[in-house]
Amino acid sequence: MKYLSGNEIRNLWLEFFKGKGHLVEPGASLIPNDDPTLLWMNAGVAALKKYFDGSVIPKNPRIVNVQKCIRTNDIEHVGKTARHHTFFEMLGNFSIGDYFRDQALEWAYEWLTSEKWLGLPKEKLYITVYSADRETAEKWVALGIDPSHIVATVDQNFWEIGEGPSGPCTEVFFDRGEKYGDFSIEAIRDDIENDRFVEIWNIVLSQFNAKAGMKREEYPELPSKNIDTGSGLERVAMVVQEVETNYETDLFYPIIKKIEAISGIDYHGQMAFKVIADHIRTVSFAISDGAILSNEGRGYVLRRLLRRAVRYGRKLGIEKPFMAKLVDIVEKIMVDFYPNIRTQKDLIKRIVSREATKFLET
Ligand code: SER
Repeated sequence: MKYLSGNEIRNLWLEFFKGKGHLVEPGASLIPNDDPTLLWMNAGVAALKKYFDGSVIPKNPRIVNVQKCIRTNDIEHVGKTARHHTFFEMLGNFSIGDYFRDQALEWAYEWLTSEKWLGLPKEKLYITVYSADRETAEKWVALGIDPSHIVATVDQNFWEIGEGPSGPCTEVFFDRGEKYGDFSIEAIRDDIENDRFVEIWNIVLSQFNAKAGMKREEYPELPSKNIDTGSGLERVAMVVQEVETNYETDLFYPIIKKIEAISGIDYHGQMAFKVIADHIRTVSFAISDGAILSNEGRGYVLRRLLRRAVRYGRKLGIEKPFMAKLVDIVEKIMVDFYPNIRTQKDLIKRIVSREATKFLET
């Protein structure tokens, strides 16, 4: 496999889908605009709901984006597994009533396996499909996936998160090998926690409009059949950079190194380093998009994350406020794609320092 940096993967992603007639939609703010059902932008599609529900017609029915996301429901896994975060970037390609299953899977296969793009060995790919959806399984096999690498499930293969576009989905997993545990395809089927088979892409055949209080079978259909996909940049980086966890990719490692320098302790994969590195990215990006600290809602989530990071810092023996120093590193890693992080850096550092000082005093 060839090494690609996080920045290169993002840029290649956009280039690949631009070459397939997609228009780049700039990533939206982490703070959802006009969507009272969402606390944070939590998926690439969340920013595009208006196109899926037909309330706005996109300039081009094929869209590609890189979307900043915050999901705090996985917080207990952060730092324990190789691959969970509270802030992450989702690479997505979308079709609003344009191409559907066949075309989406053909491009997915090309992106994943062609030497020109990710160049992943197809023998390492495993696929899940919605059990009632034979066509998707057949298409993957026609493309070159070993039929024994395809698993049908019911519960894991219907995608919805809050209200909005939803539907059956097909997921791509990458097998990182025995080094990461003696698991087999059953681990995927039974959703057993492991870091060997890593989900790197979810392709949703998006057809329904999920509504609160309704049963799945009752969801109204969307105006058209669509494609919504999401691939976690950090996980793809972990796979192509062949490192143990997302935290050793170039998207995180400089932050880890800085925490080593501040604490005087060697990393050796310790959870505290990972939690701090994760949380400082979340807090930095949320503030750069205009979030503030407070005692309720979004601001409270941030306050808790920041305090949690400071507590983990204390576990490493760091007694003084240190989080602001990490903001410089986050900026360095991310500024090429997110110039806003530089513009807002002083504000982020001020807010982070003030909160950490106050918290340490009490
Ligand atoms: N919406 C799906 C997800 O978040 C695919 O983008 O996984």
